[in-house]
Amino acid sequence: MKILVTGGAGFIGSNIVDGFIENGHDVIVVDNFSHGNKNNINKKARVYNIDIRDKDLYKVFEKEKPEVVCHHAAQISVPKSIDNPIEDADINIIGSLNLLECCRIYGVKKVTYPASAAIFGEPQYLPVDESHPLDMMCGYGITKHTIEHYLETYSKLYGIKYTVMRYSNVYGPRQDSTGEGGVVAIFCENMLENKVPLIFGDGTQTRDFVFVKDVVNANIIALTDLNNGIYNVATDTKISVNELFNTVNILLDKNMRPIYKEERKGDIKHSYMTYNKINKECGWEPKYSLEEGLKQTINYYVSKKHE
Ligand SMILES: NC(=O)c1ccc[n+]([C@@H]2O[C@H](COP(=O)([O-])OP(=O)(O)OC[C@H]3O[C@@H](n4cnc5c(N)ncnc54)[C@H](O)[C@@H]3O)[C@@H](O)[C@H]2O)c1
Repeated sequence: MKILVTGGAGFIGSNIVDGFIENGHDVIVVDNFSHGNKNNINKKARVYNIDIRDKDLYKVFEKEKPEVVCHHAAQISVPKSIDNPIEDADINIIGSLNLLECCRIYGVKKVTYPASAAIFGEPQYLPVDESHPLDMMCGYGITKHTIEHYLETYSKLYGIKYTVMRYSNVYGPRQDSTGEGGVVAIFCENMLENKVPLIFGDGTQTRDFVFVKDVVNANIIALTDLNNGIYNVATDTKISVNELFNTVNILLDKNMRPIYKEERKGDIKHSYMTYNKINKECGWEPKYSLEEGLKQTINYYVSKKHE
């Protein structure tokens, strides 16, 4: 299958590109390298250094004629979406629309798309399911959710299939410490450099950490299945920031004590998501325990340090 991956130089996108290529697919990457890294990209992929808002994107589609588009390019910073909501909307909404127009004109059969737990705000009940009420507290949540509507509409109007995957906090190799949910990256990178990481609040806040290779598997399934639906991709497990700190501490054989700082305004206290729906439809479930995922992640940061 010919697949175009936007954001294929980024953390999640580049892992997905590897997964698609390992499964024998022909992969094209579109990325403007505003956050991604050339070294992340699989050598077997064809790469276009282009912004998803650019009109030249049409030329890429005309030349490559992809069957599926896996759309991971985005402005991913919550604080940036609050400081500069116009830029956030320009990339995440207008850029995505430019891409969808290319899909319509050049006959793309399916678009897969990652939304985010940022659309739920402080959960009203746990675990969060796909019907949980939305409560967006930042531009990023709004822009990610808006595209869910466009995908549904493009499917009704033009028959382009779609799969929306609402990831919880993704972690793993190639994440940098500035990404959304980058707490794992921050803990690993800091501790490896013998810097004590900060914890905002008392560390009892919980998150749902899903390993990137499990996310890759969901994206491989979504190439052909999970048509025209919205699915949580998560672990249904709550891990406190203190637990995460201790696990990384033990795996790295350090003996650090966290430095606690004042809680950040607007931070959600508890969030984890059920994956029942995707599991019932195609059997997807997370295969990597936190410990196994963290071991692979730490190995990555160790080898990066020695490059
Ligand atoms: N990391 C998470 O926990 C998480 C959770 C939910 C959803 N997501 C979504 O997954 C996707 C990938 O996130 P990530 O963590 O890998 O982020 P990332 O920043 O590592 O990857 C995004 C990629 O998009 C590229 N990009 C940004 N703006 C672009 C533009 N205008 N044109 C072309 N390329 C552009 C960047 O250069 C980067 O390579 C995003 O859509 C994000 O919203 C991530």
